[in-house]
Amino acid sequence: MIDVHAHLTNEGFDDVAEVVFRAEEKGVKTIVCSAYDLFSSKQAIKLSKEFDNIFSNVGIHPENVDEFDEKSLLEIEKLAKDDKCVAIGEIGLDYHYVSDNKEKQKQALIAQIELANKLNKPVVIHSRDAMGDMIELLKAHRPKCPSLLHCYSGSYESAEILMKLGFSFSFGGVVTFSNAKSVVEVVKKLPIDKILLETDCPYMTPVPFRGQRNEPKNVVYIADMISKIKNISIEDVAKITTQNAKGLFKI
Ligand code: NI
Repeated sequence: MIDVHAHLTNEGFDDVAEVVFRAEEKGVKTIVCSAYDLFSSKQAIKLSKEFDNIFSNVGIHPENVDEFDEKSLLEIEKLAKDDKCVAIGEIGLDYHYVSDNKEKQKQALIAQIELANKLNKPVVIHSRDAMGDMIELLKAHRPKCPSLLHCYSGSYESAEILMKLGFSFSFGGVVTFSNAKSVVEVVKKLPIDKILLETDCPYMTPVPFRGQRNEPKNVVYIADMISKIKNISIEDVAKITTQNAKGLFKI
């Protein structure tokens, strides 16, 4: 299995070697370390050099849009040329806490999609309370490579539009929460070849580990839940989602 979205550069992870070992023991053989600002982008690249089975995403998340300018974009571009950088991410729109900077968020997202297109790499999109604007923007600035909407929480109708734009969807701990009925409904309807597994660790810890730090080994619980929702074997979920991730990230 592949955890396509892990924040292993976060402060709580001073034990990455053990985290990677525990993941491997559970069959999570590959981890994509996602970044959210310039510093975490550099750290993600560094981790990918230390561990064969860690790949990186680099990019500036909408919550950190204040550090986005021509200079930081150039730095991201340099980092993104690394062989093990498999996508520009996570980037996107987030109007949940801050929505008085929508134009700046859009500008940063468009510039980073254009960078991904120039480098022939996919984008990993974060979208929170912004689906209308997101779809409009992606239609006008379409990623050239098949790309990923991470921690997808939108409707199936939005997912249909996004699939036409070349998107797949990754799901994490939320699918195990008892109040996640709408996400479960979306997973049920989506074709399995559009589904990838993620943890978004250290956040979004799945049941039964709520309250503990999340880590890539817990992808197993996401795979198990998806196998129940879609009524297919966990082996098939593991096999197909791994193929999906390998295809998307060209690994
Ligand atoms: Ni994330």
